[in-house]
Amino acid sequence: MSKTRDHSRSILSVTVLPEDLNQYGSLFGGRLLSWIDRLASICATRHCRGNAVTVALEAMSFDVAVKQADILILTAELEKVGRSSMQIRVTALREDPNTGDAKRVCAPLLTFVALDRDGRSTPVPPLED
Ligand SMILES: CC(C)(COP(=O)(O)OP(=O)(O)OC[C@H]1O[C@@H](n2cnc3c(N)ncnc32)[C@H](O)[C@@H]1OP(=O)(O)O)[C@@H](O)C(=O)NCCC(=O)NCCS
Repeated sequence: MSKTRDHSRSILSVTVLPEDLNQYGSLFGGRLLSWIDRLASICATRHCRGNAVTVALEAMSFDVAVKQADILILTAELEKVGRSSMQIRVTALREDPNTGDAKRVCAPLLTFVALDRDGRSTPVPPLED
């Protein structure tokens, strides 16, 4: 049975804390990548309701720096579904906690593949337009 994007859209809001920073005082890129992968994984799981692993992450750029106390808002949404693969766009916004001003930090595309119990790729529901 097909599913809509609304069914799997996933959102994460976090405040950037001292332990999230690199040695230069801005957000550590690896931390952001981890949040992106986790959120996309939830989106994939909600669509297929089974096991799903990351197989690809499109080359990504960090467009603006994120500082301590900024609010990060990540949204993961399905773009396309194949037989067993799911392409998920994660958009990260940096929100100024004092003004509410929001800027796009990055918007990578990730591919997840649904796996059966034996670790082989398995079909996922089609995506409704
Ligand atoms: C996922 C995995 C089982 C797929 O193996 P495979 O032999 O390529 O399987 P298939 O040929 O059946 O392909 C399955 C799907 O993956 C897609 N795919 C495979 N490699 C891909 C890649 N590098 N980028 C995008 N899609 C890819 C295929 O296009 C196919 O999509 P479709 O079913 O929608 O047509 C295998 O690549 C794997 O185990 N990778 C490691 C995943 C992992 O451990 N991730 C955790 C992070 S390290």
